[in-house]
Amino acid sequence: MITLKSSHEIDLMRRAGKITAAARALAGEMVRPGVTTQEIDSAVEHFIRKQGAVPSFLHYNGYPASACVSVNDEIIHGIPGKRVLQEGDIVSVDVGAYIGGFHGDCAATFACGKISPEAQDLIDVTRQSFFEGIQFAKEGHRLFDISAAIQTYVESHGYSIVREYVGHGVGTAMHEAPEIPNYGHPGRGPRLLRGMTLAIEPMVNAGTAAIKQMPDGWTVKTLDGKWAAHYENTILITDGEPEILTAPAI
Ligand code: MF3
Ligand code: CO
Repeated sequence: MITLKSSHEIDLMRRAGKITAAARALAGEMVRPGVTTQEIDSAVEHFIRKQGAVPSFLHYNGYPASACVSVNDEIIHGIPGKRVLQEGDIVSVDVGAYIGGFHGDCAATFACGKISPEAQDLIDVTRQSFFEGIQFAKEGHRLFDISAAIQTYVESHGYSIVREYVGHGVGTAMHEAPEIPNYGHPGRGPRLLRGMTLAIEPMVNAGTAAIKQMPDGWTVKTLDGKWAAHYENTILITDGEPEILTAPAI
């Protein structure tokens, strides 16, 4: 069942979303050579708690940190640790904050110092695929219209969509119905209705779509070792343009 949020619940989700977006921005500012991934995680946790919120990911299914920090060929769910970021790395940071009974969830891939044009293009295409997708995120469309638009855009740039992980509804639980694949057929899937709150999150590989799971039980890498990027926002379906609940403040 896909929940429809009331206007009061939407206000609560706006508050969770603002904090989540600000935590992502803070993480992005910290991405530079010499910083460890656990320093980013600590700053994210501290910031979220200072806002009176709780990190959504901490202890979720046993996850040991507040942020996911995934570097280069790591696609998602990288566990922060002693890894020192290097010039030229690309760093995907995924964060969630819970406050007032609701979650925000967002992610982005950041450049560490000067990166290659190829890496920048991967980041740019991944981010833009989100915006291509949400052109269809409004009442009257169907869910997989979003999915298809993301897939078409990404594949037209020669990149691959990760299939094993998908976007999702978000609200009182971090993962609610529906699942939102980043591939699919237009005209299919549930009808979109105002009040739905969705986390749309393309995960894009520069090489093939194949992934491998690391022995830590969390980190997901590309099988071919080529790099990957991730971009995610929590959005609200309205009768007009979608509202991005995790939009950057400026
Ligand atoms: N944004 C990710 C998701 O939607 C975050 C989950 S990481 C976890 O699934 F550690 F919390 F599982
Ligand atoms: Co998510």
